[in-house]
Amino acid sequence: MGKHDNVMEPFKIKSVEPLPQNTRTERLKILKDAGYNLFLIPAKDVIIDLLTDSGTGAMSANQWAAMMHGDESYAGARSFEHFRDTIRTITGFNYVLPIHQGRAGERVVCHVICDKDHLVLSNTMFDTTRAHVESTGAVGIDMPVEFTKNAPFNGDLDIIKLKKYLKKNPNKVSLVILTVTNNMGGGQPVSMQNIKEVSEVCREHNVKVYMDACRFAENSWFIKTQELGYSEKSPMEIAKEMFSFFDGCIMSTKKDGICNSGGFIATNDQQMYTQFSHEVILNEGFVTYGGLTGRDMEAVAVGLMEALDENYLRHRIESIRAFGDMLKQNCVSVLEPVGGHAVYLDAAEICPHIKFKEFPGWALNCVLYLEGGIRACSLGNVMNGVFPDGTERLWTKELVRLAVPRRTYTMSHFKYVVDVIGRIAAHSHLVSPMKIVKAPNVLRHFTAILSPIEDHLFEVEKTGTKTGLIKERPSYGIK
Ligand code: F0G
Repeated sequence: MGKHDNVMEPFKIKSVEPLPQNTRTERLKILKDAGYNLFLIPAKDVIIDLLTDSGTGAMSANQWAAMMHGDESYAGARSFEHFRDTIRTITGFNYVLPIHQGRAGERVVCHVICDKDHLVLSNTMFDTTRAHVESTGAVGIDMPVEFTKNAPFNGDLDIIKLKKYLKKNPNKVSLVILTVTNNMGGGQPVSMQNIKEVSEVCREHNVKVYMDACRFAENSWFIKTQELGYSEKSPMEIAKEMFSFFDGCIMSTKKDGICNSGGFIATNDQQMYTQFSHEVILNEGFVTYGGLTGRDMEAVAVGLMEALDENYLRHRIESIRAFGDMLKQNCVSVLEPVGGHAVYLDAAEICPHIKFKEFPGWALNCVLYLEGGIRACSLGNVMNGVFPDGTERLWTKELVRLAVPRRTYTMSHFKYVVDVIGRIAAHSHLVSPMKIVKAPNVLRHFTAILSPIEDHLFEVEKTGTKTGLIKERPSYGIK
């Protein structure tokens, strides 16, 4: 572990779940039955689940205790006050609307703010954000800064492009969304400097700027440790400053709320709040619960504060960096710097023999499952390679995201994953390209059916018999 010896988990474990067990032969059948789509595999068949960090974290004893105080009143519940006041403290936004998860907030905000044929600009929108923007007839455009290896703030939005678009399209830009950290772009942080500049430019042009705040606490830690002038500030102070540059925010509390569900919209704009409220009441629930139970709101209120704890954040960011370093030591290409909530494998580099339109990320992801029972998420052309009308577009990245659920797995789980991936990478020329058998045009990765183009997804010759890799590695106590 070398320089990362200082990343001991800052918690002990009170409640545990057994890891599922299965064999390579069983997994091959499961994979085929699921149409080579890991979203369609039952979780009971996954040994290490790195599909997402969303809603998969472990809650603390204090969160569970708070849930017992849940006030389930329909209107004006005490739990809503706890929820609202915590969010007010962190964000400085006075008006707070609970929602059942992030995409519900996207729907509300897009319906109120976006117009047909208008533009929504972003460092990079998450897939559901883009789908909601496009469902209003608006066009979503990403403009991240060019990714530079080991640059501290690859999540920044390209200010020059932003200015150009705003100048060229007067009164045509409905909204600017900064995704903090930038999930689709490798979990990369956004600097305070960039947040400030984006905000200034938007105010000059009278365009609203909202934060997609899913991972605001992780972003605060990157600002604290990597941006000049912030090392002495607490994550809470930094978060408050970040929010102060926005007109509002949407947050899925399944991420930095360390909860299994939930979210909120917050703003200081009373007019917007009123319009959002109508949508929330119609689609989510009354304004003091928005689809959440009182106990959910209690858990979120406690979780948001825990996510800003320095010991928690130091371990969170450092342990994921250590995970990335271990992969690099095993000659696996990862996106560098490593992100805040995930390590992203560069599937295009690991499988250079597979064309982008034959989905190297998807193929590699299937092999991770086959060989190690590991489920990750492919961010590439299956997800982003098509417009809603069915025309193809080329997404220029093929990544496999190993998202790390909060407080759930330990270093020995990471070591297992590193070992499996290291062995796959050493034989990656044998990974088969993939083709789509059946898929919708919107959010197609969730339900697409694919198949390998070659006879086998991944077979390794070993002393004359084709065995796969699983037998070559130490067992880790797994079949
Ligand atoms: N914005 C970002 C940046 C996200 O990462 C997500 C979800 C959402 C919005 C939507 O929130 O799931 O609560 O509706 N990301 C998950 C992921 C699903 O795996 O990255 P939601």
